[in-house]
Order: sequence, then structure tokens, then C-alpha cells
Amino acid sequence: MSLLKNDLFLRACKKLPVERTPVWIMRQAGRYLPEYRKIREKADFITMCKTPELAAAVTIQPVDIIGVDAAIIFSDILVIPEAMGMKFDMLESRGPVFHHPLRNSDDVKSLKKIEPETDLKYVLDAVALTKRELDGRVPLIGFAGSPWTLFTYMVEGKGSKNFSEVKKLIFNNPFMAHQVLDLLSDAVADYLSAKIEAGANAIQIFDTWGGILSQNNFEEFSLRYISKVISKVKRKEEPVIVFSKGVHFKLEEIASAGADVIGLDWTMDLGDIRKKIGGRVALQGNLDPTVLYANEDKIRNEVKKILQSYGEGSGHVFNLGHGILPDVDPENAKSLVNIVKEESKKYHLANAAG
Ligand code: CP3
Repeated sequence: MSLLKNDLFLRACKKLPVERTPVWIMRQAGRYLPEYRKIREKADFITMCKTPELAAAVTIQPVDIIGVDAAIIFSDILVIPEAMGMKFDMLESRGPVFHHPLRNSDDVKSLKKIEPETDLKYVLDAVALTKRELDGRVPLIGFAGSPWTLFTYMVEGKGSKNFSEVKKLIFNNPFMAHQVLDLLSDAVADYLSAKIEAGANAIQIFDTWGGILSQNNFEEFSLRYISKVISKVKRKEEPVIVFSKGVHFKLEEIASAGADVIGLDWTMDLGDIRKKIGGRVALQGNLDPTVLYANEDKIRNEVKKILQSYGEGSGHVFNLGHGILPDVDPENAKSLVNIVKEESKKYHLANAAG
């Protein structure tokens, strides 16, 4: 940590004093950047993920272009199911589509137990290369999908509106669901441990589909396995961020599961949540991603409201409440980062002198 030139993000994750609030953007390496699209013209998405030089290049783009305080390794949550034997295509405008979704016990039998050091070596190589190329400028975040979110994709086979297939499965064959979730928890924990070993300074678990479950089912099918992952990940001081989208109701439980930082979507009130759990965890978020369609004055106003809602002191990592949208003007992303840097100083004045 001490080798980093800018460790604001890691300090905020640990609620240590900072001079200003650090900022990064979920899905910051992506299609809204012309520089990303230029590389993407020459290679398909999966090839980009599997080529460490390309993955490192696009990982570093938002650090150079947008000025964020952390990099997140360019990859996808679906590399785990892919390594388990489930092939998918990334279709333009439709997103990922699995060739054979997981629907019955025979499908489960064909899932392969993964060894990250061999099966996902390309990601670990990308992490190591990115670290070298970043040369300590900012920390590097590693990530994985939560077991539940991966399971949802594997069963639905593609994006979904009602999540009927995965719901049918948990209600009609909970034994199979738990069997696969258990397998995924081991895979995710081993994978995140390997990423830390390769140089990741922090890890984020994306529980994008946690919010489609009722409160009881969230505990049974998502939280239990996030807990398992966190307790199994081998780490020293690397913070764990959990982003469960749409999960207002279990934030205390997520904190109890061992998260150091909880990511909030934009429907939640940062100040209220700080009052409830800010003593135990740091908070990340939570600007509505569509605010980046607005002009600079509006962006500034919305940023100020979020900073004010969190209030004074460390423990806040500024981010969007979900990923940046592909048709956002990169100039607006730059403005956002600059505005956070300027406007957040006054909330940390007590530290400036010392
Ligand atoms: O944050 C970053 O910059 C790192 C890269 C990253 C990607 N995917 C690259 C990507 C991260 C952290 C992810 C996570 C991911 N992938 C999630 C969880 C986060 C979330 O947004 O909820 C999910 C659900 C996926 C699965 C996935 N991958 C979908 C649904 C899609 C299609 C929709 C979309 O946003 O494009 C992808 C494709 C994808 N993953 C792209 C990128 C840059 C676009 C691919 C392209 O270039 O065509």
C-alpha cells in the first residue's frame, strides 16, 4: 500500500483519513470511451478479456483519460462460468448469451471444478501486467460476480425480465440450486484469492441480481454464499467491497458477512445508511448513472448533494450507483471526477492540517 502514489481509495475503504473523497466509476473501462472502441474494433470482447496486453490497455484508459483514483481490471463476471465449461457469445446490443443454459442435474454434472491458476491464468496475467504498467499510480481492483448473480446468468442463459427460469429452479429444485451455489462460492473465493496474489489491492463482489429476491430468499440464496466467499478469500489488508443492487433491506447483514465497504445503488440515501451502518463499514456510491446525461451544472449539484449527505470525514468512496452507460459523453465523466475532487475537500478539512 505504501508503494502507491495515490492510495486515497484504499484509505477511504478503511475509513482512514483522506484529503478528499476518492472516486472511480463502475464499468469505467468500456464503450463510452472512443479509445476503448478503437481497440474493440479489432478484437471481440472475449478476445480482449483473454489477451493481457489488451485488457491492461483498456484497464488503464480511464486512469489516464478520466482521472479516476482506482483502476478495475478489465474482464467480465462470466469468465467463471466459461471456465466451468459454459460457453457464451457476447452479442452486440443483447449482451451475453450462453449456448446451453443450466437447467437440470445432468447440466450440473458437466460443470468443471476450476483451478484459477490454470483455467483463468489469462486474468491473473492481465492483473500482473496492469500492476506493472500502472506503476503505483492508483490501486487496482479485482472483481467477481456473486455466486447468486453468476447462477442467475447460468440458468437464464441471458439477460431476463422476470427471472422465471432461475426462480423455477430455486423453488422446485432448491437442492440443485444450493449445490451449484456452493460450487460457485468455492470458485469465486479461489479466483479472488488468486487475483489478490497476482496483485489486486482490493476486490469487489458484484451482486447485481441480489435485488430480484425476496428478503428471506436473499438470505438463503445470495447472502449466505457471499459470506462464504468472504470468509474463504485469502487476503491480508485488501478490502472487500460488496455491491448488492436493489438490496436496501439487508445492508446490516452484508456488513456482518464481513464486507469492508458496501456499494449502494442510487435509490438509497447515503446519509441515512451512514447513520445505520457507517460505524462498521465504509460506503461506496451512489450517483444515478443517468445524471451523466446532464450538463456540468446539474452534475455538480447532484454530486454536492451526495457529498453533503455523507457529510464530514472518511469512509466514502464516490462512485455511480451502477455502471456508466455506453452513450454517456466522456467529457461528462471527466467533469464528474473533477467535481468530486474539488467539492469533497471541505469535508476532510480536519485532516488537511495534519
Ligand atoms: O468496471 C469495469 O470497467 C471493468 C470491467 C467490467 C465489465 N463487466 C466489462 C464489460 C466489469 C466489472 C463487468 C461486470 C459485469 N459483467 C457485471 C456486473 C456489474 C454490473 O454492471 O451489474 C455483469 C452483470 C456482467 C455481464 C455482462 N457483461 C453484461 C450483461 C454485458 C452486456 C451489457 C453491457 O453492459 O454491455 C457485458 C458486456 C461487457 N462487460 C462490456 C464490458 C466493457 C461491453 C462489451 C463490449 O465491448 O461489447
